[in-house]
Amino acid sequence: MPTESATITHMSIVLNSTATVIRDAAKSLISGNLVAFPTETVYGLGADATNKDAIARMYRLKGRPTDHPLIVHISSIKNLDKWAREIPDYAIKLARSFWPGPMTLILPRTDLAKDFISGGQDNVGIRVPGHTVALALLKEFEAQGGLGVAAPSANKFGAVSPTTSSDVELELTGLLSTNDLILNGGPCSVGVESTILNCTMDMPIILRPGAVTKEQVENSLECSIDSNINLSDQVKSSGSFKSHYSPIAKVFLTGVPNPGDGFIAYSHIETPTGAVRLASPKNNEEYAQLLYSSLRYGDLKGISNIYVVPPNSNGIGAAICDRLTKSSAKL
Ligand code: TXA
Ligand code: MG
Repeated sequence: MPTESATITHMSIVLNSTATVIRDAAKSLISGNLVAFPTETVYGLGADATNKDAIARMYRLKGRPTDHPLIVHISSIKNLDKWAREIPDYAIKLARSFWPGPMTLILPRTDLAKDFISGGQDNVGIRVPGHTVALALLKEFEAQGGLGVAAPSANKFGAVSPTTSSDVELELTGLLSTNDLILNGGPCSVGVESTILNCTMDMPIILRPGAVTKEQVENSLECSIDSNINLSDQVKSSGSFKSHYSPIAKVFLTGVPNPGDGFIAYSHIETPTGAVRLASPKNNEEYAQLLYSSLRYGDLKGISNIYVVPPNSNGIGAAICDRLTKSSAKL
């Protein structure tokens, strides 16, 4: 087991996720504090989903507009009906197939899901994450009387999601209070946010592509489904804003970098002369894992322009292309 010493030496609030730390973190959530924690997709900034004040503080801290709904994280499908009603059979089937895992279901909400987490909409996003630390935290939180942890990605509104605890610390330094915590669980294995499926109609619609792919959903349900990742007319999804997931640097998906510009591409593509190679993924899974940390690394190095050769759209490639399109759409 890792020790409980902080992973970063100066006045850090980053802790390795031992059993004791998880217990204290759950208690801290119950007391109304914020706890950033690892999931398999990206790090989330957690708050008790029933605590209006804690949620209000989280919105302020992230600079997130209050009408943008939050995903409620629970430890098991067994708790789904606490938060959601009129759950279609297909949603149950998807939950059984892909939870714990990188998939969020949007469902009609129960009275437990208040306006302050749903952005005033009649539905709520729910996810059972597939990361041992996240699941341990959620189980402990529920054992202490909690019902669900609302957790957006642990970044300021519009920025790139963090995929390591040190990225969370860099992102939120100065914003978290001494009672808040950041749990370390290593780098995220997926690297891009969960697939979001609107399950409020006869058939699911993909609102945000992720590691659970359209093909996997179609195979599970034995029918074809639609995506609606650029329109937010059915339900509000801040990730469906055109400009989102943006580093400080400008991101270009076409053109040739000048010397000193950043460059991200599959490993078999050569680095143009003078460009700074930020990542060389061998396949789409690796591309997703490396993408956000390499964009952040570019920012840390003070690089102003990052040129990216997007991956093919196979599998998680569709999610990477979606995020890259939004990263490069800076206004
Ligand atoms: O992988 C993930 O989903 C991560 C980890 C931490 O679980 N969370 C995450 O949360 O990406 P966030 O808040 O950064 O992005 C969630 C997206 C937002 O665009 C939000 O507007 C949308 O999901 N969303 C949440 N609840 C919704 C709802 N009821 N209807 C429509 N969109 C919703
Ligand atoms: Mg986010």
